[in-house]
Amino acid sequence: MRFNTRAIHAGNQVDPLTGAICQPIFQSSTFVQEDIGVTRGYDYSRAGNPTRTSLEANLAALENARHGHAFSSGLAALQGLMHLLRQGDELVCSAGVYGGTWRFLTQVMEPWGLRSRFVDTAELDQVRAALTPATRLLYVETPTNPMMRLSDIRALATLCKERGVLLVVDNTFLSPYFQSPLALGADIVLHSCTKYLGGHSDMIMGALMHNSDELQTKLAFVQKSAGAVPGPFECFLLLRSTKTLGVRMERHFENALRVAHFLEEHPAVTAVHYPGLPTHPQHDLAQRQMQGYGGMLSFELKDYEAARSVARALKIFSLAESLGGVESLVNHPVGMTHASVPRAQRESYGLTDALLRLSVGIEDAQDLVDDLAQALALAT
Ligand SMILES: Cc1ncc(COP(=O)(O)O)c(C=O)c1O
Repeated sequence: MRFNTRAIHAGNQVDPLTGAICQPIFQSSTFVQEDIGVTRGYDYSRAGNPTRTSLEANLAALENARHGHAFSSGLAALQGLMHLLRQGDELVCSAGVYGGTWRFLTQVMEPWGLRSRFVDTAELDQVRAALTPATRLLYVETPTNPMMRLSDIRALATLCKERGVLLVVDNTFLSPYFQSPLALGADIVLHSCTKYLGGHSDMIMGALMHNSDELQTKLAFVQKSAGAVPGPFECFLLLRSTKTLGVRMERHFENALRVAHFLEEHPAVTAVHYPGLPTHPQHDLAQRQMQGYGGMLSFELKDYEAARSVARALKIFSLAESLGGVESLVNHPVGMTHASVPRAQRESYGLTDALLRLSVGIEDAQDLVDDLAQALALAT
């Protein structure tokens, strides 16, 4: 089955009792047992819930994976992943990761005893140099948020296999529609489902997808025992959203490309970061690795004041954190999503306070371009 057919049908069986075409919301914490320890497959919703089971089958199918695990947020999925590691283990991570990922690894996991080394994972030599005998996991975000820097998943997978290191790719920015890390050799894919998979800015959820039966047992145990699982209503909402992922992503991409071309030509804009532009320094890799370039981009103005006045003047783009919803958003990473990343760290990968990030929605592209034009005119 191809992507859109899987997105609509995987995990979504017709309800045998009523014929309902949509998965019921099994809003129940517990399940009656036929005898002591004799269940119909479910005993308690932290361990498993039928709506979550449907969703997890659907999530797995999106990444062409055998297994999917839903967590209560993207960061809860990351935390679930960390339970595969032990004190004294090490992790190598893309330097330009989402600020919340950076904060979790440095301020929660580091004091607990897990060391993270942050390197530019676009540079294979830097990754190779950072791997030590204690390294268990390489965590890669590609494209990075918000600099849109790419890492070569296939090359990193080869290196990780040689060194016995687990390769995990955060595929949030592109969604499974435009990038398939498992097919390129990654071991696990992480999603903040809050973003494109949810697509409507109305829920928080995370997921891990992979092909390993051994990891399936371990991660299902983590879900049950650590407990950061989503409720049935959220699972239903996400099942509803993934059915339209493909059509939404096509439109996000079409609009973002149009916006990127417009910004590239604008005299007030000093740089545009979008892998779909031939001027992107890794456009060749983008063409090889991605099936489309997605709806995220960032651009730079001459200074903070210019960035601030554009962000304030935009009318259709709302000034807000998060991304991947149908509505367009503008974000000032230094003051918002990446505020917890120290200046030296963020400047090491080029993130300055003159940069704005756009999550290009699925409105009419001309309205988005007109909105940017009026805001940039005020800033110049
Ligand atoms: C790339 C990326 N990964 C992970 C996360 C964390 O996900 P959540 O906010 O669902 O916990 C985010 C959140 O913005 C993100 O942008």
